[in-house]
Amino acid sequence: MIDRTDSGWWRDAVFYQIYPRSFSDSDGDGIGDLRGIEERLAYLSELGVDALWISPFFKSPMKDFGYDISDYEDVDPIFGGLDDFRSLLAAAHERGIRIVVDLVVNHSSDEHPWFEAARSSKDDPRHGWYIWKPIEGRKPPNNWISLFEQRSAWYPNEETGEWYLATFTRNQPEFDWRNPELRKAIYGAARFWLDLGADGFRMDVATAYFKDAKYRSNPFSWNLVPDLLQKHVYDRNRPEVHGVFKEFRALADSYGDRMLIGETHGLDPALAASCHGERDDELHMAFNFDFLFRPWGARSFRESAERWYRLLPEGAWPNFTLSNHDQKRHYYRYRAGADSDGRARVAAAMLLCLRGTPFLYYGEEIGMTCGRIPKAALRDPLGLSTWPLPFGRDASRTPMQWDDSPNAGFGPAEPWLPVNADYKAKNVAAQRADPDSLWNWYASLIRLRKAEPALVSGDMAWLDAPADVMAWSRTREGRTVDVYLNFSGKTRSVDVRAGIAAAGTVAPAGSEVAAGERRLGPYEVFIVTRR
Ligand code: GLC
Ligand code: MG
Repeated sequence: MIDRTDSGWWRDAVFYQIYPRSFSDSDGDGIGDLRGIEERLAYLSELGVDALWISPFFKSPMKDFGYDISDYEDVDPIFGGLDDFRSLLAAAHERGIRIVVDLVVNHSSDEHPWFEAARSSKDDPRHGWYIWKPIEGRKPPNNWISLFEQRSAWYPNEETGEWYLATFTRNQPEFDWRNPELRKAIYGAARFWLDLGADGFRMDVATAYFKDAKYRSNPFSWNLVPDLLQKHVYDRNRPEVHGVFKEFRALADSYGDRMLIGETHGLDPALAASCHGERDDELHMAFNFDFLFRPWGARSFRESAERWYRLLPEGAWPNFTLSNHDQKRHYYRYRAGADSDGRARVAAAMLLCLRGTPFLYYGEEIGMTCGRIPKAALRDPLGLSTWPLPFGRDASRTPMQWDDSPNAGFGPAEPWLPVNADYKAKNVAAQRADPDSLWNWYASLIRLRKAEPALVSGDMAWLDAPADVMAWSRTREGRTVDVYLNFSGKTRSVDVRAGIAAAGTVAPAGSEVAAGERRLGPYEVFIVTRR
C-alpha cells in the first residue's frame, strides 16, 4: 500500500515510463490499454519499480497519439474507461506502486469542445483561451514553425478571420496561458485526476506554456531540421512560466504527497534546473535530458552529471533518463556489436546508482532497440514529415517484447506498430529465466537500491579513476557504497577500498574485497559496500 503521508516518495522511487499504446493489449484491437497495464502489474512489482509515468490515455483523435487531448477528464475508449483507470490505480497502490499521469496543457486537440467553441466566434467566452492574430494578407504574423509539419505554425480560421497558433501539428492549437479563465479550467482538470488519487503529473512541454508577449520572430540560426533555421527564443521558454509553476506547485502540495515533473521544451539542463524555482517552490523535478545526447564514455557521463548537480538550485533533487518515447532508445544509440549488452549493463548501473531519481523506459530492462520501420508502417507525424531523415519516433515505440509467441505476447491482434524483428531471442520470458540476463541485472540493481539506502538518498562523491572508468561513492549514516564502472571493452585497473562486494563480476556478491588494485574486465561493474 502507498503511504499518503510520504511527501518525498518521488526522491526514492525508481520510475518506469509506459507508452500505453505499446505495452500490453488486453482486448485484442492491436493497441495497448489500461487493462493491459493492470494485468502486468505483477511483472512491474517483480522488476521492482516504485512508480509509473503513463503517457497520455485521455480522449484524443490521436493525431499525435494522445498528445492531442479532446477531453481532459475522460479516458479514450481505445485505452478503456475511467473505471479502468480507477481499477488500475487501486491495484497499483495496493502493490505500493504510484502512478503519474501525463498532463498535456500547452495545447489541446483541435477537436476539444473548448477549441471548437473558441474558433466559432470572437464573442465566445472561450475565444481568449487560445492564441489568435488577425489575418492581414497572406503572410503569417511571424516566422514560428510547426515542428511536426515543418511549415509555418500559424493556421487560418475562417470563422473569425484569424490565425491560430500550433507549434507541433496543426491539430494541436496552443492555449493562451495569460487568460485567467483558461488557467482555472486547467487547474480544474488537474484536480480531477488528483481527486481520483493520481500521484502527480508529468507536464508535457511545460516550459512552452508562455510565448513572447510581442510575438517577435525567432532569430536565425544554423539549426536545420527539425528547427528550420531558427533559434527558439520567442515561441517557448519565456520567464512568465515560473508564475504558473508556483501556482501548480501550491495546487499539488495542497494534496500532501503529489509530485510534478516538467518536460522542458529545450535540451539544456540549465532550463530544467530553472524549473525547480529558487526556493524549491516550483516543480518538484524537471527532466534532465542530457544523457539522451551524450556520446558513450566515462568522461562524457561524468561531465554531464557534474554539470547537472552544479546547475540545480539548493534543495532541488536531480533525476536521470537514458531513453523515452521521443528519442532513440539508448541500447540502439550505444550499440557496439557484441559489446552492446555490456554497455547496457554499465548504463543501467549508472542510472540506478547515481544520486537522483532514475526514469526507465519500458523495454529498456531487456535491451529493446530501434529497428527499421518500413515507410508504409510509419505513424508518427514527425517521422512522416521528415522522412527519410532519422527524426521519426516510431522505432522507439514498438510493442513490448513479452515472449516469443506471435506479436511477442503483446496481444492477440496485429499491433499498431510492427514488433521489432529481434523479439524471438530478446523478450521478457527468456530473460527472466536466464540469471545472467539484462533483465535480471536491472532487477538485481533495483533490489540493491532497496537494501542499501545509501544508493538512494546518500551523499555523492566522485572517486579518482583512470580514463574509461567512472567511479563514485554514496554515503548515508555511516554506510558507504563505492561504484566503479568500466566504460571500455578493455581491462582497466582501479584502486579500490576494502569492503564487501555487492554486485558485479570481479568478485562474487557477498565476498570480502581487500583494499588495493583491482582489474575490471570489459564493461565490468563493481559495487562495494563499506561500514
Ligand atoms: C512532448 C511529448 C511529445 C509530443 C509533444 C507534443 O514533447 O513528449 O511526445 O509529441 O510534446 O505534445
Ligand atoms: Mg487494446
